This record gives sequence, C-alpha cells and structure tokens, in this order.
Amino acid sequence: MHLPKEVRLVEVGPRDGLQNEAQPISVADKVRLVDDLTEAGLAYIEVGSFVSPKWVPQMAGSAEVFASIQQRPGVTYAALAPNLRGFEDALAAGVKEVAVFAAASEAFSQRNINCSISESLKRFEPIMEAARNHGVRVRGYVSCVLGCPYEGKVSAEQVAPVARALHDMGCYEVSLGDTIGSGTAGDTRRLFEVVSAQVPRAQLAGHFHDTYGQALANVYASLLEGISVFDSSVAGLGGCPYAKGATGNIATEDVVYLLQGLGIETGIDLDRLIAAGRRISSVLGRDNGSRVARARSAQ
Ligand code: HMG
Ligand code: MG
Repeated sequence: MHLPKEVRLVEVGPRDGLQNEAQPISVADKVRLVDDLTEAGLAYIEVGSFVSPKWVPQMAGSAEVFASIQQRPGVTYAALAPNLRGFEDALAAGVKEVAVFAAASEAFSQRNINCSISESLKRFEPIMEAARNHGVRVRGYVSCVLGCPYEGKVSAEQVAPVARALHDMGCYEVSLGDTIGSGTAGDTRRLFEVVSAQVPRAQLAGHFHDTYGQALANVYASLLEGISVFDSSVAGLGGCPYAKGATGNIATEDVVYLLQGLGIETGIDLDRLIAAGRRISSVLGRDNGSRVARARSAQ
C-alpha cells in the first residue's frame, strides 16, 4: 500500500459551508471562523465568493471578510469567482488566489451558474488571462462528478473532458466534487483512474460531501489512487444551494483524525480545529457535523 506522506487540506467551511445557511451570519462571525482556522494550522482557507448576491446571499460580505481577517504568511486565502466581474471584485479585495467552478452535468451547470458547460468554460478564459496578468493562481472545480441532483448518475467519462479543459486553460489544480455525496469508494477509484489519464494525479483533488455517509471512505479510496489534496469543511458545515438535501462536506476534523491514524502529516492542530468547529456550530445553533468532535465532547 503506497499512501502519500503528506496531505494538503483545503478548508472550504467559510465558503461551501456558510453559503448554504438560511440564517444571516455576521461578517464578524465569518472573520472569527477564518481566524480560528488559521490558528488551527490550516494552510489553505476558502474564505468567500464573489458571486451574485441574488444567487447566493450568504456570500455578499466577502470583501469585508477579506478586509478583516488576520492573514498569516504562508497561508492561502482564496475565493470563488464565477465570471470576470467576480474576479475583478476579488482582486480589488486583495485576493491572491481564486477558484472557478464548472460542472460535469449540463442541468447542474444551468441551475448553478445559468449557462451550459461550454459557455462556462468560455467565461473562465478572460479570468485566466486576467489572473495571469496579475499573478493570481486559479484552482478549478468540477461539480457533480459522481451524481447530479437533476440528471442522476454521472460517468467518469463525462468528468474527464471538463477537468482536462480546466487544466489546459491553466488551473494549477482541479478539484472533483461529489456535490450530492452519493458516490461510493468504487466509483471514486474509477473516477480518478479515468480522469488521471487526462490530468496528472498530482494536480487533482477530492471534494466529498457526506450525504450518504460515504465521504471518509471516498477520501481513503482517493488516497489509494495517489490523490493527496482534499477539500473539507470544519464541523461538516454546509450543503449546496443548488443540490437540495446535500449535506455538508466531509468534516475537516474527521479527515485529520483519519490521516493521523495513517501517519500522514497535515500540520493541523486537531484540538484547536475541534474548538473552531464547536464555536461556529454554536453560533449557527446547529449540530456539529464532525463525528470526531462529537465523540470528544462525549468523553
Ligand atoms: P446571471 O443571472 O446569468 O448573470 O448569473 P448576469 O450577468 O445576467 O447578472 C445578473 C445580476 O448579477 C446582475 O445584477 C449582475 O450585475 C450581477 P442586476 O443587474 O440584476 O442587479 N452579477 C454579479 N454580482 C456580483 N458578483 C458577480 C456578479 N456577476 C453578475 N460576480 C452568475 C450568473 C454566474 C453571476 C450567477 O449564476 C451566480 O452568481 N452563480 C453563483 C452560484 C454559486 O455561487 N454556487 C455555489 C458555488 S458552487 C459549489 O458550491 C460547488 C463546489 O463546492 C464543488 C462541489 O461541491 O461540487 C464548488
Ligand atoms: Mg461543495
């Protein structure tokens, strides 16, 4: 068994997590969450989105959040940008890394960003050019890689060309998202086998939601496929506004616990991370979605 020695976690709680909350969340609470995550040792935090507030109202204060967080040298603070307008707003807010997001299913692309897959890829080209001009790195997402809330099962062959297109246009890494959390470990292995014929494994990441309770198994299956970057969300925050019933991402605490057990280094302080997850869960008045955090509070 050859597992990676180090794994990089991309913390998406402040973005993928909070974007789905029905209740308003203050800028101060968002800033506190990001600062807590920095303190816990996360090296990459997705802080917010520069999207239309009519589509995702929770991300409206992202520029203010960026202005107030304590940025630690060596930590990446990133934001989502769906179009050039979003990229320019992100740049004006001082963002140094952005993510663009496409889908493997046409129906999800329409519901999420109001255009076809190929239109979305065209829309990203000016972002890529502007990013190159400003020295901004761009990460790419593909959603619905193992299933779509509108179209059902999605094949790895549908995902590969979209991942390849993002890679070819200059995304340094492409994160494959099981947006509805329906995929199994077998599906995950096949996904990476097929997509890695188009994009090198070192430039692929896994983004698993836990709707069907498969996310941790899917992370392990991905490790066996040589994938060493995973997106996760503290306290398992979130869901997806365009995928009804989808739960949050896999909880960061649970991934760290898994990796510690495998002797894989992440640089994250699990106790501080658990404290960060408890704080935001109590601010939101929601159950903590991390099994590790729940087990620790029961001890
Ligand atoms: P549209 O309605 O087709 O765009 O939306 P439009 O150009 O016609 O603009 C509509 C309005 O939005 C206009 O304002 C624009 O100015 C404004 P109005 O004239 O009506 O007052 N607008 C903007 N405002 C702020 N920032 C912008 C921006 N662009 C236009 N950047 C659009 C198209 C892409 C803008 C919209 O569909 C959108 O914002 N979608 C975002 C959806 C989203 O954020 N989804 C969640 C993230 S993806 C995800 O969670 C999956 C992931 O986690 C991976 C996984 O789990 O699989 C990444
Ligand atoms: Mg997601």
